[in-house]
Amino acid sequence: MTDTAPVRIEPRERVALIIIDSPPVNAASHPVRKGLAEAIDRLQADNGFDAAVIACAGSTFVAGADIREFNSPPQPPHLPDVLFSIERSAKPVVAAIHGTALGGGLEIALACHARILNAKAAVGLPEVKLGLIPGAGGTQRLPRLIGMEAALDMITSGRTVRAEEAKSLGLVDAVAPDHVAAAIELAGRLVGGRLRRAGAMDVPAWDQAAFEAKAAAIVKKARGKLAEGKAIEALRLAAQSDIEKGMAAERAIFQELRAGSQSGALRHLFFAEREAAKVPGVDPKTARPVEAVGVIGAGTMGAGIAVACADAGLAVTVIETTDDALEKGRARIESTYDRMVKSGRIGAEEKTRRMGRLAFSTDIASLATRDLIIEAVFEDLEVKRDLFARLDNIARPGATLATNTSYLDVNLIADATARPQDVLGLHFFSPANVMRLIEIVRTTQARPEVVATGLSLARKLGKLPVVCGVCDGFIGNRIFASYRKQIDYMLEDGALPHEIDAALEAYGLAMGPLAVTDLAGLDISWARRKRLAATRDPRERYVEIGDRLCELGRFGQKAGRGYYLYANGQRQIDPDVTAIIEDESRAKGIVRRRISPEEIIDRVRGAIVNEAAKILDEGVAQRPGDIDLVMTNGYGFPAWLGGPLHEADALGLGKILQTVKETARRDGHGWEPAPLLERLVAKGESFASLKLS
Ligand code: 3HC
Repeated sequence: MTDTAPVRIEPRERVALIIIDSPPVNAASHPVRKGLAEAIDRLQADNGFDAAVIACAGSTFVAGADIREFNSPPQPPHLPDVLFSIERSAKPVVAAIHGTALGGGLEIALACHARILNAKAAVGLPEVKLGLIPGAGGTQRLPRLIGMEAALDMITSGRTVRAEEAKSLGLVDAVAPDHVAAAIELAGRLVGGRLRRAGAMDVPAWDQAAFEAKAAAIVKKARGKLAEGKAIEALRLAAQSDIEKGMAAERAIFQELRAGSQSGALRHLFFAEREAAKVPGVDPKTARPVEAVGVIGAGTMGAGIAVACADAGLAVTVIETTDDALEKGRARIESTYDRMVKSGRIGAEEKTRRMGRLAFSTDIASLATRDLIIEAVFEDLEVKRDLFARLDNIARPGATLATNTSYLDVNLIADATARPQDVLGLHFFSPANVMRLIEIVRTTQARPEVVATGLSLARKLGKLPVVCGVCDGFIGNRIFASYRKQIDYMLEDGALPHEIDAALEAYGLAMGPLAVTDLAGLDISWARRKRLAATRDPRERYVEIGDRLCELGRFGQKAGRGYYLYANGQRQIDPDVTAIIEDESRAKGIVRRRISPEEIIDRVRGAIVNEAAKILDEGVAQRPGDIDLVMTNGYGFPAWLGGPLHEADALGLGKILQTVKETARRDGHGWEPAPLLERLVAKGESFASLKLS
């Protein structure tokens, strides 16, 4: 082994310090597995060593198997075999963990005879997030150490467990500031004693009924995603089989899932997330420091944004126009924190700490010292332009000015200031403190460091930023508007709201789009339609059903009536709505026909993919993966399909284009096939083959 080898041994007297050194995250790649296997062999053979410690160089312990290897056949030595050789070692092996030990990383640690955690470290088995189950003993050794129910929770949630909790679960032996020194000391003490091998233990006594009840709820919540159910299957084996049998079965499930489409889709999204942070011409290091922010408007969005910022430790000044509105905003924010306390997410002291980061004022001039100001006022171009013109006189030079618009032209908002280069869009999704997605809208004049500042802020808030250009609705709302129109057409052509929602929920959407419209309120899109009426192309097919419902005050769930009727907290089919829909079809001379669930899905999918292709061609989105991220993180599109463009590639773009052409024939203007889609089909290429320009 050389110094540049991914695994090396540094003698520490009679303890072999095995160091895994494979940047960036010490993933258990083929060279790492090979190096580790050789190091364990050497430990056995070398009389100079009585024990070993496995630790990592760099910022983290092993972050799991090397996900990049998952598209090719596995190469020996396989991780489960390496881990058996660690567990069966006659000489003690202790894991010294810093950073995060995830997936295969934690599995390495579980095969050791003891585990020491750095106080800042965390551990987890996040495989389900990649559509997998742990494949190197995680489902077998973890329950033997921490019990069936705790293992069920960790493995099916994929959550990361911090040092303190890991200790109290019995997952690690000790938490220490100097984890390597503590591990070396412990390894020395274990020499000659009876070693604790997780694989040889029985699972602690467990309540099978409670386990099964939780398991059933988890499978139900997973809605179509396979990994959670498969993980439960593997976990049950821990209580029924010896470690060899259990691990063989676990491995078989792991391999099956690894080769399946769901894991392929989720891995695509994993890498898309990492790609999304990379924007040509934007250097993350140029981001301006942001410590203090201003949020203008304390309605639902403004309050959510203020909470997200305060949660991230920023000092926030919230601005409203009147004392009354300000007090309502403050109460809205406080009730958000009260709910967090009630649900146990934070303690009362933490609430006080976070509320303490918030200041409230009706004086917009108090934003003069803020590093970044986010406007979240009424969605009206002139209102926003007036506000930005005022901000221009207030904000300090070099401050970043952001608008939280969901549709409007951010270039025009930027132009209302003398510093358009400092302006960008930050499109948060509601509830802003919960939803991960933020569209970072890059205006034509925004300086690269302003975009970098938006990206850096999003990351500080723990969010997923996707950069896009200016257009009506940006990536997400523009695509949503398109397939929402297609849904209206289907209502007029013969489908009823519950049929459309049922088909799309069965397909995997978190909630049917018409139920979503009822939840969001029909009045919002009605106002937008009225605003755009004057400029709407008369050739466009226009469905009046939504307008009819609004004229009757059927604004959705808040009014007790929308596309559905709401009574006793239940959503019901409303015969009045059926009658309105049928009247509208009749008025247009449309003979209603049954629309099958397959046609509903095809038409929605066609609308999404076609609009997405136009967005890509226009350069509004940088890459297909960005669109997949927006749809899966902001619009309830099932992650296990990998987003609409990943799915389209898998289905074959020729089939999609055919649906798009049928749509164009039927619905006419605005539904022409996107030239990019036609080009890809003509060349036999896929969205995945598009390279970043
Ligand atoms: N395999 C291959 N590459 C990985 C990786 C992995 N397991 N984990 C991270 N990377 C790569 C990323 O793609 C990125 O590459 P890039 O610089 O070329 O874009 C680089 O490492 C840094 O990653 P992040 O940008 O995510 O860095 P952070 O510091 O923000 O986060 C992390 C680090 C918490 C380790 C995060 O990367 C992460 O969560 N990784 C995935 C962990 C995981 O899912 N492990 C389970 C894998 S499956 C498994 O182990 C199966 C086993 O049971 C057999």
